[in-house]
Amino acid sequence: MVALESRICFIDGKRGRLLYQGYDIRDLAERSTFEEVAYLLWNGRLPKAPELSELSGRLKDRRALPPPLVEELDRAPPTAGPMDVVRTAVSSLAMFEPGETRADASAIAGAERLTAVLPSILGHLQRRRLGLPPLRPRPDLSHAAYLLYAILDRDPSELETRAMDVALILHADHELNASTFAARVTASTLSDLYSAVTSAIGTLKGPLHGGANERVLELLDEIGSPDRVEEVVHAKLARKERLMGFGHRVYKVEDPRAAILREWSRRIGEAKGNLRYYELLRRLEDVVHREKRLYPNVDLYSGSVYALFGIPADLFTPIFAASRITGWTAHVLEEYQDLRLIRPTARYIGAVDLPYLPIAQRN
Ligand code: COA
Repeated sequence: MVALESRICFIDGKRGRLLYQGYDIRDLAERSTFEEVAYLLWNGRLPKAPELSELSGRLKDRRALPPPLVEELDRAPPTAGPMDVVRTAVSSLAMFEPGETRADASAIAGAERLTAVLPSILGHLQRRRLGLPPLRPRPDLSHAAYLLYAILDRDPSELETRAMDVALILHADHELNASTFAARVTASTLSDLYSAVTSAIGTLKGPLHGGANERVLELLDEIGSPDRVEEVVHAKLARKERLMGFGHRVYKVEDPRAAILREWSRRIGEAKGNLRYYELLRRLEDVVHREKRLYPNVDLYSGSVYALFGIPADLFTPIFAASRITGWTAHVLEEYQDLRLIRPTARYIGAVDLPYLPIAQRN
């Protein structure tokens, strides 16, 4: 069902192709950077060298969290999940930086601010729960390296940084996925960018959308060794359970992002001398394809890469948000430009013309 027209992202679900503003994701994953892809999504074209360096500079300059937000985050109960913290932080930021919340083309400043600050929010919450000293923004690091540094409290290697950069590129946009649609619905009422992103984060949180890669890791831990894959898959399918990281509403062949991340899972596994996850996932892919004809989606391999960096599984979906923020905000900007209230209708399947009985006569 076509809900709206967009110039940002094209998915060919039959051929397994994904384009951002006309550029193939495979070229972008091979040759581009997350900062360049952010520029592309927001502006509809690749940047020239000075434009890219200015954007990178602005993203670096805007990493610090405002002190009142830090105080608010420090009041979060220890039981709050990271996605709840991220959703609340974005919503709160709108109160502390009201100038960023205009509902027009100038909202691109808010898009840059949210993109710049999300790694700091993740870093803050991770350090707080580990009892580490507060995060110092590092203007010397690229966006991908800063995200890893903020979470891991160490400088990442070049290979780790490139793997993270590629993962951020691959998650940056995906047409009218559920969270982007939620963002566009909110923006279509002329609500502000921060409200639209808050809607999107709440939508991404669900395990059928952004929460799947965390569940993939749980599945791998449950399976334990390659010889148990058959048994666990059969048992799950017999109970009609969904296998996380498989299947897609749009792709009927392999998700092109899964193929790229499979390769990175192998490379990082080899670099760390730990191919356990990679080997389990390969076996899992074979069995699930044979049994259900399902292909892997973007979530199958990403968690294995993050886990080998030492990132805790409950930060996988927040990392997805730290990338998809660029796609959400690009769609919000497009919505402001092509404004039309999104108000679908439902096909009514309920009762009609029921007699109203006084409460005493109902049984
Ligand atoms: N595991 C097991 N069976 C699956 C499945 C999965 N991951 N994905 C789809 N199927 C099966 C359904 O059970 C259904 O079978 P049936 O016809 O025998 O009932 C059939 O395939 C069609 O499923 P449907 O739910 O209509 O497809 P969809 O387009 O709505 O599903 C997803 C899309 C993503 C919701 C679904 O594939 C899924 O739940 N995947 C797991 C979660 C995940 O990885 N999400 C990340 C997406 S990027």
